[in-house]
Amino acid sequence: ERPIHIHPSILSADFARLAEELERISTADAVHVDVMDNHFVPNLTLGAPVVSAIRKATSLPLDIHLMIEDADRWAPEYADLGAESVTFHAEASGAPIRLARELRHRGARAGMALKPATPVEPYLDMLPELDMLLLMTVEPGFGGQPFLDVVLPKIRRARQALDGAGVPVALQVDGGITRETILRAAEAGADVFVAGSAVYGADDPEAAIDQLRRAPLV
Ligand code: DX5
Ligand code: ZN
Repeated sequence: ERPIHIHPSILSADFARLAEELERISTADAVHVDVMDNHFVPNLTLGAPVVSAIRKATSLPLDIHLMIEDADRWAPEYADLGAESVTFHAEASGAPIRLARELRHRGARAGMALKPATPVEPYLDMLPELDMLLLMTVEPGFGGQPFLDVVLPKIRRARQALDGAGVPVALQVDGGITRETILRAAEAGADVFVAGSAVYGADDPEAAIDQLRRAPLV
């Protein structure tokens, strides 16, 4: 059995009360922070100054998901802010191997994300350069969208490649994760689960985290 990691996304939290909202997920494995630039995705959230404030407001590890253009230029500064991991989109990087090495050099784990329709095969040889592969299970940009089952075969192929190569890369899924869809994603081979609305939409976010964590086991 693969350990399950739950990373609540603060995209679904109340941005006017971030410190309190972070306290409501103290049992999470990390906090997922969605950075959007209105160019790579049609939505705008927050940037380095707010990430820095979040860093000071919580002792949870920060899992930064950059949905921004020109990741080669902007991603390294997020590593410098003390993020545990920085994930850039392959579609937004001209030199993903160089960027992954730069993130590690600056002390962060290197993550790379793929949109639902981006194939994983071109990236299989660079998996040893990564600490995490994020397979988006919705089109990035917004919380609360339904899980795309069409991504499940890609999750399976990525899991096979990771196990075959024996590289310890976390396999993260993000978008539409609920107590129901987490079963299919876990069965396909994911081991890190981002959940926004399923956690912050609940009356008790920590109970919701617990239910998600136990769902694949029951
Ligand atoms: C979407 C973001 C997700 C989002 C997930 O572009 O990357 O992290 O917060 O929200 P839910 O869990 O509601 O789909
Ligand atoms: Zn995300």
